[in-house]
Amino acid sequence: MAKTQSNRASLDKQPREVASMFDGVARRYDLTNTVIAAGQDRYWRWAMRQALAPRPGERLLDLAAGTGVSTLELQKSGAWSLAADFSLGMLAAGRFRQVPMVAADAMALPFADESFDGVTISFGLRNVADIDLAMREMLRVTKPGGRLVISEFSTPVIPGFRTLYMEYLMKALPKVARAVSSNPDAYVYLAESIREWPNQRRLAERVAEAGWSSVKWRNLTGGVVALHRGYKLG
Ligand SMILES: C[S@@+](CC[C@H](N)C(=O)[O-])C[C@H]1O[C@@H](n2cnc3c(N)ncnc32)[C@H](O)[C@@H]1O
Repeated sequence: MAKTQSNRASLDKQPREVASMFDGVARRYDLTNTVIAAGQDRYWRWAMRQALAPRPGERLLDLAAGTGVSTLELQKSGAWSLAADFSLGMLAAGRFRQVPMVAADAMALPFADESFDGVTISFGLRNVADIDLAMREMLRVTKPGGRLVISEFSTPVIPGFRTLYMEYLMKALPKVARAVSSNPDAYVYLAESIREWPNQRRLAERVAEAGWSSVKWRNLTGGVVALHRGYKLG
């Protein structure tokens, strides 16, 4: 499959292209993230941890963990938290972090059934080629009574703000990324993939269709990000 530009994935999200794109982003990923999110990323991560409500001694899986910045947030709870990602470049860029890391594909998890009390995926699901398969895999490795939290860019709920935000995504964000990222093309993909992503309600339906119960969502920053939570029936 040919790449559409120098080092970005196309919207059919071929796993090899996606992993290679993130390898290229890895070196300056954490910095670029904070710049393009205007510092909101810290709040989004804190809110993700609150939504999962981990307890000390629990076992958590942070899927599509990248450099482990989201895993570090989970660890603050005292729960044992494992970072899993299929981009070796992203994992390597975060190896200075004191979190356990494993190479894994979200669509074929290398874990036994019912291994974790909770599973999270932050800004990762949108990049997975088959999200329904990934959500079923997350259900399989979660213990009965366990929970899932998905943190992902979503659809702003205030119409005027939504228009401004879409302008930022398509016009300003690639320029900002050009100034700070080690792979600016990846941020054109970011903007396009956010635009194509299901809105809050539709994603909640897909989470439920994958087998999760009591699925609800909460908007952050006016819906720029949404947290979806679900439970595995006990
Ligand atoms: C935007 S980063 C998010 C990193 C981190 N969770 C955070 O909050 O900053 C998305 C990550 O998803 C990973 N990813 C995408 N598809 C994946 C898959 N099928 N299996 C495992 N990781 C995947 C990429 O390699 C990348 O590191």
